[in-house]
Amino acid sequence: MAERAHGAVETGIVTVTVRVSRFHPETDRSSGQQDYLVPAGPGMTVLDALVYIKEHLDGSLAYRSSCRMGICGSCGMFISGLPRLACQTQIRALGPVVTVEPLPNYPVVRDVVPDLEPMVTHHTAVRPFIVRGGEEQEYPTAEYLQTPVELDAYLQFAYCIKCGICLSACPTLATDPAFAGPQALAQVYRYSADSRDDGRRARLGAVDIAHGIWRCHLAGACTEACPKGVDPALAIQLLKRLIVADVLGIGRRRGPAPVAPPDMQAQRRPDIPAAPPATVPGGSGAQKNQP
Ligand code: SF4
Ligand code: FES
Repeated sequence: MAERAHGAVETGIVTVTVRVSRFHPETDRSSGQQDYLVPAGPGMTVLDALVYIKEHLDGSLAYRSSCRMGICGSCGMFISGLPRLACQTQIRALGPVVTVEPLPNYPVVRDVVPDLEPMVTHHTAVRPFIVRGGEEQEYPTAEYLQTPVELDAYLQFAYCIKCGICLSACPTLATDPAFAGPQALAQVYRYSADSRDDGRRARLGAVDIAHGIWRCHLAGACTEACPKGVDPALAIQLLKRLIVADVLGIGRRRGPAPVAPPDMQAQRRPDIPAAPPATVPGGSGAQKNQP
């Protein structure tokens, strides 16, 4: 219908006005807008339109992208009133005028490039990796045993690509910039629910604080906005349950999954060369465990 309203289905090209936020921190006090007329063919994404503008109309436009396929999480923008991935958003579906602004709730680096540092800071603070005690952490010897049911407990939360879109949709973060935010909280649950992990207690303590998990009022905007189908709002509620159970001393789980026993029948294939020497002085795990 939108295509017919534009009246250019016959040629396959419609002209879309792309209204882009412009902001240069060294010369501008506040952001302005600039319109560009972009010929949009079938299948053109908002990111394609920005590439067109930069290559043909205005080389000074700044935006961030990389994979162009919804994998890297670089191209989060506020497009026609919603936070979305520019490379996953069809421009012709948005009507004749499309607005492109930087993601809300972040400082702006330039034009439509947000500074994702607030998300990265919270993400790294919650130790988003498998924590194991002792030597196994530094020098892993084998895979950890995990059943399909144990995998299901956290799998959907592992699909996060760290695009930061959920933070830009979050009403709590809009009023409390110190709030940990849905991305980091979802990752706390993702790793704490992983049967291979032994770092749950430290992680829960890091978010059971003033600007932590209890600031979430379950608006659910993060889940609606997530372009990867992750459900951060669900993760946060499950995390609240974990914390309460931990405080009450109920529902304790077994210890972390054991390392798989060595396969006594395994033999090295003669056509596979030995691992290269360690690049870090003192030896890597690969070198240490090499037969
Ligand atoms: S949870 Fe979704 S919206 Fe939030 S950072 Fe991860 S992929 Fe992006
Ligand atoms: S460019 Fe990688 S997610 Fe859009």
